[in-house]
Amino acid sequence: MNVTFRQLEVFEAVARLLSYTLASKELHLSQPAVSMQIKQLEGSTGLPLFEQLGRKIYLTEAGREMYHYCRSISQQLEEAEEVLEQLKGLKTGRLEVTVATTANAFATKMLAMFSQQHEGVTVSLDVTNRERLLRQLAENVKDLAIMGRPPEGADLVTEAFADNPLVVVAAPDHPLALNRLKEQSIPLYRLQDQTFVVREQGSGTRTAMQRFFSDHDITVTSSMEMNENEAIKQSVQAGMGLGVVSIHTIELELETKRLVILNVDHFPIMRHWYLVHRTDKRLSPVAQAFRQFVLSKANEFVKVDYML
Ligand code: PGA
Repeated sequence: MNVTFRQLEVFEAVARLLSYTLASKELHLSQPAVSMQIKQLEGSTGLPLFEQLGRKIYLTEAGREMYHYCRSISQQLEEAEEVLEQLKGLKTGRLEVTVATTANAFATKMLAMFSQQHEGVTVSLDVTNRERLLRQLAENVKDLAIMGRPPEGADLVTEAFADNPLVVVAAPDHPLALNRLKEQSIPLYRLQDQTFVVREQGSGTRTAMQRFFSDHDITVTSSMEMNENEAIKQSVQAGMGLGVVSIHTIELELETKRLVILNVDHFPIMRHWYLVHRTDKRLSPVAQAFRQFVLSKANEFVKVDYML
């Protein structure tokens, strides 16, 4: 079969758009030029690829087969282009990153610094909870994710790059906060039957907190459920209960003394931040560069020390 890349490119557009007119517009060609390329391709394949019913065109069975192969040829070509880009250097490219809600406390700053160092690169950042993030990885719509440890057996490459301690926070006038000066540490049983403001279903923080309390046979009640750390902090400050949050989200509140960390036995719950991508994902040069950047610069962005 003697076909050219040009013919395949024209065929791909007509098959995708099912219109000679739209394909010619997209490719900046005249309509007769598009028809000619398709005729030549049909000549080489020996089978009609489109059929016309009324004013519409449809793919024939041969056309559908051809379209399938055509897509994978263009994917291979794109991959080749990316590899060649790598040889030319990191001048352009697009980076799709998704981060867990809590990781946004440092991820935006990280991406801003990375963008400054790679001016031609377009960065897209999605902030979402653990559950949706795992779905995005499964659907292969993101290059890299920053999240808590993903589940075992999920065909993902995971690289830990920082600690993520979860602590109990309270308003400064909460009874447990007032007592904390007298006590060395607060025994865990004192949390029994306390009221907590909690994150939404699907949040990694929430799952870790629930697992921790159940492992230690502690029952707590929840007054409110919120899908943002900001809202949790506001509610705890307003006296709605205690909260379990990542240390990375409360830097400002600790500094301004609007929240305090309770020194409860067995806390913090020590989680870690991971850089994650699909095992079968071929990382683009830009994604590779971002991966290196996160692994080498994490300690500049993610504070790992914390004070009680
Ligand atoms: P989040 O945090 O989903 O609670 O925002 C991420 C994690 O700790 O896994």
